[in-house]
Amino acid sequence: MKIVEGDIVQLVDTKGRRYQFRVRRGAQFSFHKGVVPHDELIGLEEGSVVISSHGERLLVFKPTLAEFVLKMQRGAQIIYPKDLAAILMLADVFPGARVLEAGTGSAALTLALLRAVGEHGVVISYEVRKEFLEVAKRNVEAFFGNIPENLILRERNIYEGLVEDDKNLDRMILDLPEPWRVVKHAKASLRSGGILVAYNPSILQIFKLSKRIKKTGGFFITGVHEVVVRAWEIGQRSIRPEHRMVAHTGFILTARRLSVAGTERSY
Ligand SMILES: C[S@@+](CC[C@H](N)C(=O)[O-])C[C@H]1O[C@@H](n2cnc3c(N)ncnc32)[C@H](O)[C@@H]1O
Repeated sequence: MKIVEGDIVQLVDTKGRRYQFRVRRGAQFSFHKGVVPHDELIGLEEGSVVISSHGERLLVFKPTLAEFVLKMQRGAQIIYPKDLAAILMLADVFPGARVLEAGTGSAALTLALLRAVGEHGVVISYEVRKEFLEVAKRNVEAFFGNIPENLILRERNIYEGLVEDDKNLDRMILDLPEPWRVVKHAKASLRSGGILVAYNPSILQIFKLSKRIKKTGGFFITGVHEVVVRAWEIGQRSIRPEHRMVAHTGFILTARRLSVAGTERSY
């Protein structure tokens, strides 16, 4: 794909450092190894090479979603790409799905969900803090170029309940400090067979949530997972794990809604 004005691009220098910015005619990108006029980028194929004014070779790409979320503006702490990937699979998010998430935060998960549900799906996202919702809107707009019509943002405290329309959900994904306070709303709003996912940094939160799910009834707890990813680096004479890694982020609990007309127990 060719780079056009308004695209977000990512330049990668010879040390592997990444720089992201939006391409504007007449502007220039400057860093410690010189400048690159944006006009030189417009019309280039992704994967091209540009040379800075100081002779540094830079690779030109559009950022992947994972690269974008790591560099985008943050209000609240984001869910890291390794966990976003797992959540999409553990929640079995599919094209056309009707998904509710809370809280929106910086919208890292929102972006991943919008991609996964596609244009025929719906993402409903609750956020209690107006300033975070503003950051989230900016990030969604920066990534997609607009706020997609199938994204419904609700400035609302989800602990107080869902709005009337938010029923018959295929999936509900919670990234909140007290997810157990949403269990009864999840029970009322997920369709039979629907999936509830909670993402939390402390296993004590997951434990409390699991107890509330069992007490509330109507769910089958399918598992708790954590994702550990260790990146490796390829050198001239060795291939070995990188020295640094993101060691801990969060735990992911999954549960399925039992038949709405059926059992009141949890399993
Ligand atoms: C860790 S952040 C979510 C990050 C987001 N998943 C992302 O990937 O960018 C948690 C968010 O939940 C919001 N929040 C906390 N309690 C809430 C509630 N009761 N209702 C709605 N949002 C809430 C916070 O304001 C915060 O923005």
